[in-house]
Amino acid sequence: MDRVSATTSHVLDTHRLRADFPVFEELFDGKPVAYLDSASSSQKPRQVLDRMRAFYEHEYANVHRGVYRLAERATEGFEGARRTTAAFLNAPSEKEVVFTRSATEALNLVAYAWGLDNLGPGDVVVITELEHHASFVPWQYIAHRTGASFRHIPIDDRGELQLDALDGLAREGDVKVVASNLVSNTLGTINPVERLAEWAHGQGAIMVVDAAQAAPHRSVDVQALGADFVAITGHKLCGPTGIGALWGRKEILEAMSPFNLGGEMIRSVGLQKTTFNELPHKFEAGTPAFAEAVGLAAAMDYLGEIGLEAIERHEHALVEQAMGALEEIPWIRVFGPPADRRAGIVSFEVEGIHPHDVAQILDWEGVAVRAGHHCTQPLMTRLGVAATTRASFYLYSVPEDLERLVAGLYKVKASLG
Ligand code: ALA
Repeated sequence: MDRVSATTSHVLDTHRLRADFPVFEELFDGKPVAYLDSASSSQKPRQVLDRMRAFYEHEYANVHRGVYRLAERATEGFEGARRTTAAFLNAPSEKEVVFTRSATEALNLVAYAWGLDNLGPGDVVVITELEHHASFVPWQYIAHRTGASFRHIPIDDRGELQLDALDGLAREGDVKVVASNLVSNTLGTINPVERLAEWAHGQGAIMVVDAAQAAPHRSVDVQALGADFVAITGHKLCGPTGIGALWGRKEILEAMSPFNLGGEMIRSVGLQKTTFNELPHKFEAGTPAFAEAVGLAAAMDYLGEIGLEAIERHEHALVEQAMGALEEIPWIRVFGPPADRRAGIVSFEVEGIHPHDVAQILDWEGVAVRAGHHCTQPLMTRLGVAATTRASFYLYSVPEDLERLVAGLYKVKASLG
């Protein structure tokens, strides 16, 4: 996939696109699911499923090992997926793209492999108050293990980062890491990562970006972000589960210790000493999830053909409509920033009714939403709630899904309110 097709813009023909997703043929009480949980995981188009099936049927053998033609086909599929991922992220080199099992694993890789060697007492790790646990917990753990301080950038009442806290954080010690998501999975806030990266570099820190919730919905350009590491996952962007990727700056990756140890990540192994492979293989121990990587590349091609700008516009229109409708209901409280500063995610509270009950009753209406803390417990504490109900959109979401959500919420209120 080239960069140009990734940014081609046109209006989405959502009804035609929905035909690509077999799940919408599944009926619940005679109706397709109003799937408003794409921030948890997206549905899969036939193009991805067919590509994986073809790979398993015609190109499958282990990668990087065999000299026979079938193994060469498999290796080409896997390395082709790396090139596609590099183009998707506008990475300067595909050697900077490390395949992982998930965005979580990618973020753990940086926290362990970089953090254990580079952090100590007097250093400061800065994360945000709206971080997903996948970014929050590894840095908290590694900071505590190394003796570094662990600090957060607070949010204001609208769920936006308070950048005027940065000067105070800089006075607490040597800031060595700044970690932030690009899009909050709970509130949808689009965070000013470029500004954070600039500030981080001014402090001599690395900038680590969790783009798991951004990459499916808007163009992520690692060079424009100015980050040092960017993590993404496949299952949220129409790809399979079990595959994610870490992009990292070559010179930092090269200087880092390995993360997982084992086959494929070595150059030579002796009884006393092992030397490590070149990038990116140094960070890919064991048989990688290569069929899943091929599926991920098919998903990126699929999104590229539709156009991420068109997807973003489509979701923006839906989120505006959703917020408009929900904010008119007096017994609903919507969390987070205005529609123009958020991605296609809306978290809300139905007065006096637990989010799990809300989600349960919505399911009886065929509406799928997520209820819970969304792996952001520090953010829940800041919002003063234990959980929220969250509706999230994607390229296949239609206004009827929203209408069903709102009608379902009136049923929730009638049953439990
Ligand atoms: N991180 C995923 C979510 O926000 C699972 O739901």
